[in-house]
Amino acid sequence: MTGTSRSSIYDGSPAGAARQAVPASAPRDAALRQRAARVIPGGMWGHQSTRFLSPEYPQFLASASGAHIVDTDGRQYVDLMCAYGPILLGYQHPAVEAAAEKQRRLADTQNAPGPLAVDLAETLVDTIDHADWAVLAKNGTDATTACVTIARAASGHQIVLAARGAYHGAAPWCTPNTTGVLDTDRAAVRYFEYNDIASFAAAADAAGDDLAAVIVTPMKHFEGQDQELVDPAFARAVRAGCDRAGAALILDDVRCGFRFHVGSSWTPIGVRPDLSAWSKALGNGYPIAAVVGTDALRDAAARVYLTGSFWTSAVPMAAALATLDELRRTTAFADLTHAAHRLSDGIRAQAASHSLDVAYTGHPAMPYLTFAADVDFQRMRVFSLACLEAGLYLHPKHNWFVSAAHTDAVIDAALAATDHAFSAVRSEFGAD
Ligand SMILES: Cc1ncc(COP(=O)(O)O)c(C=O)c1O
Repeated sequence: MTGTSRSSIYDGSPAGAARQAVPASAPRDAALRQRAARVIPGGMWGHQSTRFLSPEYPQFLASASGAHIVDTDGRQYVDLMCAYGPILLGYQHPAVEAAAEKQRRLADTQNAPGPLAVDLAETLVDTIDHADWAVLAKNGTDATTACVTIARAASGHQIVLAARGAYHGAAPWCTPNTTGVLDTDRAAVRYFEYNDIASFAAAADAAGDDLAAVIVTPMKHFEGQDQELVDPAFARAVRAGCDRAGAALILDDVRCGFRFHVGSSWTPIGVRPDLSAWSKALGNGYPIAAVVGTDALRDAAARVYLTGSFWTSAVPMAAALATLDELRRTTAFADLTHAAHRLSDGIRAQAASHSLDVAYTGHPAMPYLTFAADVDFQRMRVFSLACLEAGLYLHPKHNWFVSAAHTDAVIDAALAATDHAFSAVRSEFGAD
């Protein structure tokens, strides 16, 4: 790795990057890791574990505001991960925090939902074109799993088709890590290739009259791979295949939701799912999820057993209502879109000026970078670590997320760091 620094706050200038001194260590993070190793299996669960990242990445974060995060050793970064999606308007957004605080003073989890459950269901029905009803939950996995269950209940069919490599959550039917999972847990899940009409048609034919649902994400966003926007012809073929089989089309909008469009991510291409799953950005960081669906699925949604101890909690509902209100009433979505394009234009121009062959793929609000000549993510590791050292937090194998708090100044600070990182890649691996 180049001798760049990773200390205090990076001011965004290339000179600032050079000025930073590398601290000998991150003592608070190191101490927390040691304690965690004793009481948390593997030191940390899930994809947030830094064992998938260079050791310089902080495992723990202390605070966040707007588009910035601060680790436990006091180092501040511009954040391009947005908590892996939930942060849409910026950390600690004033309107969201005020709404959450107001509700917190009244009550959060109770014996029954409060009036905000109805307000939020109404707002979702108003905002998402295929939504005639909504059920509120906590996590994306709750929502995708409920969609599959509702589709099976409605059709009486068993088979669910999913794109090979797609992520729909951590439940046995869909987790990418099958450790501890029974074959029978996913015996009725079959796969097709994303954006490949022939592959989808073959899978649908094989399912025959036992096809309950097709679950698909608005774009292809598989870890470590170039992303692909959906081919509208593919989306229409999936819609038609579901109609022929009497199956439900489930759009998993958990990750893309509200970054592509204020409404369903497939509204712009004119394809309506029967059910869709939402979470991440819905509450701007508060734990909330939703299943929405059409009238045809309403009865099945009422019949299946959907519940959770915290599904009534009202503070996240207040946060979600405030988030949707910001999206519908203010320039937040336009600001996010503007920031996404500024970042995308800047990254592409920088890669060209450094003579590096890159792919910058997916929707600009949820982009991902790869180097054409990369082997085993070596270039992406150098790139992401140089970004970190220059005060920009992004992930080498996971798509990034832009928020409405990424002002021009923030994006420019991010671009100063990426410029420095492209130089690091160029000096370590040469031009393409
Ligand atoms: C497309 C998609 N579906 C479902 C999920 C599962 O959501 P959660 O982690 O909230 O259970 C995720 C999470 O990353 C996701 O990206």
